[in-house]
Amino acid sequence: METHTMSQQAGHHGQHRPRVAPHTETLEWSSAMLLGHAPIDEAHEEFVDVVMALRECTQHTALACLQAVETHLLSHFAVELEWMTKTGFPAMECHLDEHQKVLDAVQQVNALAAVGEAGLSDVRRLAQALIDWFPGHADYMDSALSAWVNKKLHGGAPVVVRRDLKIETPAAVL
Ligand SMILES: [Fe+2]
Ligand SMILES: [Fe+2]
Repeated sequence: METHTMSQQAGHHGQHRPRVAPHTETLEWSSAMLLGHAPIDEAHEEFVDVVMALRECTQHTALACLQAVETHLLSHFAVELEWMTKTGFPAMECHLDEHQKVLDAVQQVNALAAVGEAGLSDVRRLAQALIDWFPGHADYMDSALSAWVNKKLHGGAPVVVRRDLKIETPAAVL
């Protein structure tokens, strides 16, 4: 099974370096993860939910949790593609490539689990691979997309208002 290599594959276009990609056992949603474009932020909050549910799943809930992750990814990635298309995002290929690899890994484990050929340890390994992959992807690719969409919609970089009321403008990536 190839799922453990997902984060390495994700970096195959060497020019992309995530700003922050600490190894972490867990993902916790917080306002620090907001990128400033609501449809993407909502998808990311849901990603954290379904992936953490997968991480904590049991033998009895594994199949439902896997299906929830697959369903979520299809809509999450469709939302980002829709915004790329709508706004003429110039760097689609690399970003969509990465989505496809992640989706392939999830669909592979889901299909195997459905016929009893993937066990709980495979499912947990997939969850950990998703936890490892997400911060770098969100920090680099999704934040670039959010900045682009905001520039197109409002003529400026996203302004993120965090709960502590500090206003931060993410560095322009484009
Ligand atoms: Fe995303
Ligand atoms: Fe993305």
